[in-house]
Formats: sequence, C-alpha cells, structure tokens
Amino acid sequence: MSSSVQLSGPADWWRQAVVYQIYPRSFSDSNADGIGDLKGIISKADYLSSLSIDAVWLSPFYPSALADGGYDVADYRDVDPRIGTLEQFDDLVEAMHQRGIRIFVDIVPNHSSDQHIWFQQALRSPRGSAERARYIFRDGRGVDGELPPSDLSSHFGPEGWTRTPDGQWYLHLFTKEQPDFDWSNPEVREDFLKTLKFWSDRGVDGFRIDVAHALIKDLDPLPSRSSYDLEVMKDDGSDPLFDRDEVHEVYKTWRKLFNEYDPPRVAVAEAWVHPHRRPPYASLDGLGQAFNFDLLTAKWEARTFRQVIDKNLQFAQQTGSSTTWVMSNHDVIRHVTRLVIPAGKDGVTFADENNWYVKNRLDPKLDLEKGLARAKAATLTMLALPGSSYLYQGEELGLPDVLDIPSEQMQDPQWFRGEGKFKSRDGCRVPLPWEPSGSSFGFGAGGSHLPQPSWFGEYSVVVQEQQPESTLSLYRRALALRKQLQGEEVLNWLESPQGTMAFERPGSWVCFTNFSDEPVAIPAGEVLVSSAPVTAGLLPANSAVWLRRN
Ligand code: NOJ
Repeated sequence: MSSSVQLSGPADWWRQAVVYQIYPRSFSDSNADGIGDLKGIISKADYLSSLSIDAVWLSPFYPSALADGGYDVADYRDVDPRIGTLEQFDDLVEAMHQRGIRIFVDIVPNHSSDQHIWFQQALRSPRGSAERARYIFRDGRGVDGELPPSDLSSHFGPEGWTRTPDGQWYLHLFTKEQPDFDWSNPEVREDFLKTLKFWSDRGVDGFRIDVAHALIKDLDPLPSRSSYDLEVMKDDGSDPLFDRDEVHEVYKTWRKLFNEYDPPRVAVAEAWVHPHRRPPYASLDGLGQAFNFDLLTAKWEARTFRQVIDKNLQFAQQTGSSTTWVMSNHDVIRHVTRLVIPAGKDGVTFADENNWYVKNRLDPKLDLEKGLARAKAATLTMLALPGSSYLYQGEELGLPDVLDIPSEQMQDPQWFRGEGKFKSRDGCRVPLPWEPSGSSFGFGAGGSHLPQPSWFGEYSVVVQEQQPESTLSLYRRALALRKQLQGEEVLNWLESPQGTMAFERPGSWVCFTNFSDEPVAIPAGEVLVSSAPVTAGLLPANSAVWLRRN
C-alpha cells in the first residue's frame, strides 16, 4: 500500500526547502493516552500547511522500548502500536502530499534496539554464529572473560560493552539497549536497502540518517576511549569509530536506490563530524545533504555568524549540494533558552566544565525576553540564507526549554546515565501546547508523557493565532514570504555597522541583523518583515529585518 497522491518534481525541490521536524510522541495525541500519534499529526495537517513548509521530518515512530526516545528501533518496517498503524502512516503521507508537503522519515542504521528480532536471535545463538555476526560480539578479557573486551565508554555512560548471559560482550556506542550493527556484514547492508525501499515505495520523499558517520568501524585492535566529544574524534578519517572514509561506499549504494525513484528520494546525514569532513556526506553521489549544526553551536555575534555562513556556503559549493541550517532539534536546548545561557557547550550534548545545566536548571534566572528576541532574529536570519532550513516543532511558538522537569520524571537516558556530564534532552521534547488551558493544553484529552509547565498555555497556538505580533505570526509571515523571495543560492555581503550583519539575495532582498544590545538604524529600503517593530528607522536590539532595497 502506498499513498495515492505522489508529488512530482522538480528533482531538486530539496535544495532550499524548509523542513519541519515532528517528534511524534510529543506533537498531538488523538487517543488520550498521553503519547502523540500519527492520527494526531493528521489532525494538524492544516496547521502544518499554514506554516508554508516544504516537508515534515518525523523522528522515529517505529516499535521501540523507548530506551532512547525511539532511536532504539525494534522493527524498521512497522509503526509502534502506541503511535499508529501502517495504514495510518499511508493516510499521513496522503494528507501531507495533498497539501504539497513532502515527508522524511528517520533511519537509524548504526544500532537497533535490543528488542529487534535479530538481536534476540543473536542472544539465543552461540558464539561465532551467523546471528551474532550481525552485531559486534567479542569475548571479554580476564581469566573468565569477566572484563570488557576493551575500555570503551558509550555516548550515554561509562560502559560501551555489555555482557550477555552466556558471557560474551556486545558493543554499543549509545545505551546498552542499542547494540551496534556490524556493517561489514552484507546481510546488514541488504536489510537497510530493503528498509529504504519499503518506505520509498510507501511514498516517503526523504530520509534523515541518524549518526551517519558511525557505521564503519576499525575494530582491530578494539578501540579504547573514554569520551565521545568531537574534540577527541580524529579529523582525518583515521578514527576507529567515527567518520571513516569507507562509510561513503555505503551511501553510494543508497544513492543508486534513491535515484530509481522519480523524483529521486533525498537524504540528509546527521553527522557530528569536524566541519571540514562534512562535504562528502553531502555529495550528490552519496546522501546529498548533511546537517550543518554550526549556527546552532555559534555564539550570538555578527562576526561568528558571518564566518559560519561563509564557510558553509563554500562547503556546499565543493559538493554541488546546498547547505542545511538548523537552530533547534530534539537533541539540543531550544534556541530561545540556549541563546541566553552562558557560552559553553550547554546547547548541545555535553555539559560545560562548570556544569551550568546541572547547577542552574531549577533556578536558571535567564533573561528569556532577550532569548526570544535573539531566537526570532536568528530564525529570520537563517530563513534568508541560501540552502535549506530545518525547524523543530514548537520553535514557531517561541517555546523556551522546560528546565524544571523533576529528575524522576525525566526520560532521557543521557540524563540519568550520564553521571552529570550530559544535559537532559527532555526539556525540548515536552508535548506542544495547542490551547491556553485544559487537559495537557490541547495536546490530547489525556495527560502528557512529559510534564508541561503551568506557563505553557501562554505559548499555545490558539493564543498566538490571535496576536499579529506573536512568534507564530512572525514565522508564518516569514515562511510565506521566503517562498516568494527565494531565488538563486547566492548572497552578497553588505557593509554594516559594528555588531550587525547584512547581506543581499537576488531580487534586492536584504537581511539585516542587529546582534547588539542597542537599537541601530536600518539600511534604506521597504520593510518586508521584522522580528521586532522598526520605529523611526531603528531596529531594536537583538532583532532582524528583511528589506527590499530600492
Ligand atoms: C542522534 C539522535 O538525534 C539522538 O536523539 C539519539 O539519541 C542518537 N542519535 C542515537 O540514536
């Protein structure tokens, strides 16, 4: 079964697309069980359409024991019964396609869930069996093999190996419920091609590839390491665990499959690699695009933003692809909050050396008004750039991160297994507020699987739809305008005062951003949209404006 409404070309529709990320469990709940579902998403199809987005990307909705929010997949070709059915998935594709919205699904190829049938078979099979060869099993060290095969930590905690009842150990770069596949095994490769074909045949237009840089590993000798910070990852392809050159051979075979469809299926790599190593993931004979997280990790200052933009436009030119911009996703602190927390690594996975997140999350004293101003300005700037932009559900409402979720209600393994070194990602995964009050603020008629704060209603869609100056209204205006304005993938920098940044796109479309804490005079031109009111030719602090140059 597949969607009857297919969207045709152009084949390069993705180059400057706006893709809206849906975290299905937290978007909209149709059956009052506190967990968002596919029918809930379908019920919001008109809302999605009102955003003038080009595509939605669904984080995993597959059967999962939820050891890592669904990134522990038990069956790659099915839907978690708590979220829906395959028929409902087809309905969702149809509802999106009818509105001209394409759909991406998330593929998690580095590891499965320990509930996956292959891993269950591996556990029941002897050492050295074909069933175990799909994963990375090794004997332990020590007299009775009681020590792990090597000293390896995982992304989410101290152990990278876990022992099975018969005494062997298996490798997992994430939780112990996420065993890593052995990608040197042709069966693994074939099975993923089958999965990609399965969803492509169902009308899926694109794929987001989870930890795309981890599949190929050099396990001889077995790697030992105690950290996964990018700073320790080798940046020349010689790292034993990440970003090895051979991984691109896998994606070339995927590309062949993608190109059998009309229009070709597209893919974007999630690869937290050293920036200069990113282009091959985006090459047109590989996945075709790779997330560029450099604005997301950038300091709020004109010089840094400009450097990031220049560098990534150059990378895009190297590959013939377009770059992707991201300010928020399900793994990082929402940008309203992030842009006013002290500089450091707090926005991403790791806590900083002072552990700001752990110390301050219950009493953060953050200037969220400034955070919202910066976030809106950052988004308006991002949306004016050449390339594609990825939005994360709820950012159009200007939601801050929910920092005060009680520790015992957290779900993120990174939080409770990370020994205080990692922040929790639950604060950006709290179910969306659709209504100002009532049961789970309109998320559903039941509860909400993560607690929503009392102030959530003020941010709800219903409230913001009535306010022409709301964040939602700004997103809608900007996204609709972008569709009309977007042209060739080039920009010209314009001179601008200290603490500001200005560039022009074809069609005399100018974006002017004020990173400073003082109002600044805007360049001459007709104001098209601005993140804060322009009065007497002055753009307030921490704001951005789009102009048409006369
Ligand atoms: C990246 C995903 O975005 C994240 O949520 C997940 O925990 C890891 N990959 C492991 O799959």
